Amino acid sequence: MLDANKEKQVLVVDDEKSICEIVKAYLQKNGYSVFQALSGEKAVEIIKENKIDLVLTDIKMPGMNGVDLLKWIKKYNNSLPVIMTTGFPTLDTAIEALKLGAYDYLTKPFHLEEVVEKISRAIQTRQLEEDNLLFSKLVSLHEVTKELSSTHILDELYNRFLNYSIKVSRSNGGSLLFFDESLQLKIVLASSEPYNETFWQLPVFGAASRRAIDKGESLIIDSGKECISKEIPQLPEFIQSYIVFPLKTPKKIIGILNLVRAQNTVSFSKLDLELINVLASQASISIENARLYQNIRENYLKTVRGFALAVEAKDKYTHGHSENVMKFTVVLAKHLGLEGKDIEQIKYAGLLHDVGKIGVDEAILNKPGKLTPKEFDQIKKHPELGSRILENVPFFESLLPLIKHHHEFYNGNGYPSGLAGEDIPYGARILSVADAFEAMTSNRPYRKSLSHEVAVNIIKKEKGKQFDPEIAEAFLEVVKALDKL
Ligand SMILES: [Fe+2]
Repeated sequence: MLDANKEKQVLVVDDEKSICEIVKAYLQKNGYSVFQALSGEKAVEIIKENKIDLVLTDIKMPGMNGVDLLKWIKKYNNSLPVIMTTGFPTLDTAIEALKLGAYDYLTKPFHLEEVVEKISRAIQTRQLEEDNLLFSKLVSLHEVTKELSSTHILDELYNRFLNYSIKVSRSNGGSLLFFDESLQLKIVLASSEPYNETFWQLPVFGAASRRAIDKGESLIIDSGKECISKEIPQLPEFIQSYIVFPLKTPKKIIGILNLVRAQNTVSFSKLDLELINVLASQASISIENARLYQNIRENYLKTVRGFALAVEAKDKYTHGHSENVMKFTVVLAKHLGLEGKDIEQIKYAGLLHDVGKIGVDEAILNKPGKLTPKEFDQIKKHPELGSRILENVPFFESLLPLIKHHHEFYNGNGYPSGLAGEDIPYGARILSVADAFEAMTSNRPYRKSLSHEVAVNIIKKEKGKQFDPEIAEAFLEVVKALDKL
């Protein structure tokens, strides 16, 4: 019993000094560390400055009475157990105190053994609740970390990470900063007002971040308490507690997580720090992975864009064709209600759809007259060839059906597979309309560009034949917008 109580700090509040002294001596004998306050106001000060595990308070006191103190405690730190004592036992007072969140009450004169027993039980119950809370937090952390690693989209990751950190640590606001290319710390995300970007420009946060990065460790700053370093200014008045957390990968520090709790809340504890640590370690790795993924993806895209340009260099008439088809497909796909990943997929398919022309003879591509059947057979190979060129690049796997089938006809008369209707991938049907329109309205070796009006009429005429009728109709609705691209 004595050992278990060694670390526990009890605050005894009573305006009668003699009662305070007697209770204090008895609790100390039982291994508790005891603070005493002769008024509610003094008790508030002590609670703010110390880690108190339980408050034993008289109800009737001049100034701030026990019920007012209880109300304040429940607002400040809801989990701090409070036992009320009163020399005027009425059922109403006791019920009121319990309703307001008191753990228990004692009527004076009380037996000291009874006081110790109630205190011990309250602290044990509180410990059990805390353990359960920690367990449930760890379970939810596990879910969160799983979710963090499930996206490669950086903005989404930042958002999830900051929101989870605020939730897990019961903070009121936060921000995320990362090093940019010139190694400057930049805010990439901040909570909404009042903890917005402007708030995080306050000198205290800059100074604390620098220290956290220099030392490679987190730092908690509490309002009104002396800070670990004189170079760090005071927190603004409306902030109770602040944590700055360096975000580390195994090799380096990549940024900073800031969290604050508002005035009249409880300060951050070591437990909060541990929970954030688990979350931040996972998030830092996920962020680093997402960055690598994005980098590789951008490099692939650059290479393949180079391919598309190389194809266009072979065929002087198709200069800019791929970029235009890419823009047209995106407008059309959005109009059709596609979003997110699907838009991205169709965008790159638009850019790369003719990449297979790299394997078609230049003389055929640039032939001014009508093509012979044999020459046309050569041209017809480009969709399959294009899909073969890209098939070894995992990023482009989802584009392959679109590239392979962008010359299929809705009525089945297209190439290379002669697919018809809904057997043709949806994206390929979208691409087909955009591609045909772009081709018709540009100069070709065998003819001058057609006017928009003529091209629009051809699309209308080919509804249900070459083109999916619904997609062709949607295209006719957005065709005016294409001039502005
Ligand atoms: Fe094509």
